[in-house]
Amino acid sequence: MNRVIYEPDFDLSVVGSLEELQEQVAGCTRCNLRAGCTRVVFGEGNPGARLMLIGEGPGADEDRMGRPFVGKAGQLLDKILEAVGLERFTHTYIANVVKCRPPGNRVPRPEEAEQCLPWLYRQIELVSPKIIVLLGSTALQYLIDPQARITVMRGRWLVSKSGIKIMPTYHPAALLRDASKKRPVWEDFKQVKEAYLNLYLSQG
Ligand code: URA
Repeated sequence: MNRVIYEPDFDLSVVGSLEELQEQVAGCTRCNLRAGCTRVVFGEGNPGARLMLIGEGPGADEDRMGRPFVGKAGQLLDKILEAVGLERFTHTYIANVVKCRPPGNRVPRPEEAEQCLPWLYRQIELVSPKIIVLLGSTALQYLIDPQARITVMRGRWLVSKSGIKIMPTYHPAALLRDASKKRPVWEDFKQVKEAYLNLYLSQG
């Protein structure tokens, strides 16, 4: 990523597959969130997807189902993807900054994200997407810059050291609270779709 805020203090490079990683994450007790959640929400989608979406952390529905973005925000995300001609299981892989639900859906604390981010970094390496969409300010701040503002950064492409194109946009839950954010998110996902199609064109 552009800026690694937390250097992993455990080496995951030996974990060779998403399945193996998922098994290890299932047994993770590196922070207190695991004790308070029902299920670990590892992430899901096309393991070879060129497009990866990263949210904040599981909510109540995700915690119950063990799957990311299955509640109201997730249903809206599905509609947004559909509107630009993308389907989550075919075209995307979806994960979160933290894999266990923070109590009461609060924002993950730095010490929780610090313990969980190495899992996400390895997940990104294993999926190896060409494009990442950061959904909301938590993903933006933990993956790019703790001071970054989503209102300023959304809609602008960033590029990681390894060449991944990164688009920050509003979290779908924010759209449920404020309908005026729908238009900008639509514009952002149109850019994402265009970049996605360009991947194929550039490969001939
Ligand atoms: N919000 C998130 O950030 N992630 C989920 O998986 C669900 C809701």
